[in-house]
Amino acid sequence: MSEFGPLTFSQLLIKYALPLWKSILLLTIGTLTSSILAAAQPAIVAAILNTLMQGPSMQGPSSPEPVPSSPFDLNYLGSRTAGLLSPIGGDPQTILLALGAIYAVQAIMVSGIDYGNHLVSIGIRLNATRFIQNDLLKHLLSLSLGHFQKMKSGDLISRVTADATQTAIGLGPLVQGIIHHTARILIYGVYLCSTSMWLTIGAMLMIGVQFSLTRILKKPVAERTRRELDAKANLSTTLQETFTSIRVSKSFGAEEFELKKLGSSIEGFVRANLRLQRVAKFEAPARAFLDSLASIGIFFIALEELRKGTLSIEGLVMFVYVGRLLITPINHMATNFVWVQALRAGFEGINNLLAQRSKVLDGPLVAKTLEKKIELKGVYFSYGHDPVLENVSFDINLGEMVALVGPSGAGKSTLADIILRLYDPDRGEVLFDGVGLREFKQHGYRRLFGVVSQESLLFHDTVHNNILYGRTDLTEEDVLRAARMANAHEFVTAFPRGYDTIVGDRGIRLSGGERQRVAIARAVVANPPILIMDEATSALDSESERLVQVAIDRIIENATAIVIAHRLSTVLHADKIVVLDNGRIVDIGRHQELIGRCALYSKLCELQFHERFDISSS
Ligand SMILES: Nc1ncnc2c1ncn2[C@@H]1O[C@H](COP(=O)(O)OP(=O)(O)OP(=O)(O)O)[C@@H](O)[C@H]1O
Ligand SMILES: [Mg+2]
Repeated sequence: MSEFGPLTFSQLLIKYALPLWKSILLLTIGTLTSSILAAAQPAIVAAILNTLMQGPSMQGPSSPEPVPSSPFDLNYLGSRTAGLLSPIGGDPQTILLALGAIYAVQAIMVSGIDYGNHLVSIGIRLNATRFIQNDLLKHLLSLSLGHFQKMKSGDLISRVTADATQTAIGLGPLVQGIIHHTARILIYGVYLCSTSMWLTIGAMLMIGVQFSLTRILKKPVAERTRRELDAKANLSTTLQETFTSIRVSKSFGAEEFELKKLGSSIEGFVRANLRLQRVAKFEAPARAFLDSLASIGIFFIALEELRKGTLSIEGLVMFVYVGRLLITPINHMATNFVWVQALRAGFEGINNLLAQRSKVLDGPLVAKTLEKKIELKGVYFSYGHDPVLENVSFDINLGEMVALVGPSGAGKSTLADIILRLYDPDRGEVLFDGVGLREFKQHGYRRLFGVVSQESLLFHDTVHNNILYGRTDLTEEDVLRAARMANAHEFVTAFPRGYDTIVGDRGIRLSGGERQRVAIARAVVANPPILIMDEATSALDSESERLVQVAIDRIIENATAIVIAHRLSTVLHADKIVVLDNGRIVDIGRHQELIGRCALYSKLCELQFHERFDISSS
């Protein structure tokens, strides 16, 4: 069972930010350092201004009386800072040079530290993305098969990539932005507040206006980001479907149709993106407009203060300068609060996945091996409304080969999935040596089975790795043995690269029969005590079928086997044939018994003969 579940927003922050506390601490220290250094900037500029204005041609008009006030008062900031440099001599030239050098060093340090901060913040973002993705994948892979049949794989891909990234952006850059801008707002705010009450009010107003814009933009940004992520997911689903079914679209000459489908997905994404951008790109100019109003406002307040004599010329220049410095962080801070919404949109997508609970749950026991039998007792199952299996009961004894036969859609593959516990029955139960399947841990239980499923899917990897499929406890010998058993060794070694041949996406570079034999080798490589073969011989010509038949006979000799096969040759050997129709058991018996008494079975056999006859006569 998965340990994941839906999170609240703060739980999410704690869960993924906490393991990164060192980086976040480093980022906080770095950001604060750069902010403090940046705080020195107005002081240096004021000192330069003060030194310049003391020159004969630039003497300002009436300077107010130097009534000692706050050390941050912009009226006296310049003279105070320049005063600190008096030990190096009273020569303005020397002081200006020194101030220029200090300014350069300060600017270089701030830029350097900010660069480092950005790198740390990107590191936090990438790591947080990784953590979120790992957890998501772990959760998703723990869900039962049924979940995946309801979700589109392209959608899932998009949730794991785009939504996770979107969420993680919040943990790095947003944190940095908030610290960075808060520190600067505070520092520049102190300068302004120390200089004029009116300016303080002006700054407050500015913050108020900027955050009103944030309030206005929050909702549309959240909504439109969500829609954009959904459109991205839809596009990735369509792309994935197109490329995985390229053979079908080519065979049917349906390229135009596919192009249209893709075109409309792309259009959907473009439209969603445009809608988002319309709000997103509205933000910057809207803020710039508010900023220019604010600048003018600050300028007028400053002029008024100058007129009242509470501000010197130097103070006025510094006033406007620091006012401008203050606008940027306020602007960015308000922006960050808008983009928290985008983060929330990504987070919502992830949370919807985390909220899904696996329907098939682990029990406490670990299944070792089959000693007596697997029993199905009154099993009922449906995927939705219509029953697919109804009151199915039979035994599979150790060492027995049980064949499931029946028309298409009878429920054979579903029954195999129930035995494998990919689904739990709605009613009734499956007992493994007398113990209900729900008592076992799924992983260990399924490892007792070797499965060749109806669509023997291979992975884009070498033949060798496809046979081994993640089993680290097996050797090269096992791979060769399995390939020989499955009659695959010969054709594999005939490839120039042998077992290192890449089979292509889903095994597309192999013939149907070859693919099936690799899949059989994969099923038997770990010597599982129980085999499930779903139509293992359906894709083979008569020669390969014979080869596979020999292989299957050899394999199931020592194993318990559940074989779903339309081919009579396979069924003939069965210890027990279960005839299914419409989800119900029609009869159970050996071939000889059934051929006489079961009409459906006899009909199926007849159809088989006709089919074989038709093929061999053509
Ligand atoms: N994932 C699913 N969701 C909903 N219905 C399903 C699903 N898989 C199968 N079914 C339905 O369940 C019924 C039984 O399907 P199943 O695949 O078990 O048949 P089958 O006997 O293996 O057929 P075939 O011989 O064609 O492989 C069918 O009516 C099918 O449409
Ligand atoms: Mg089937």
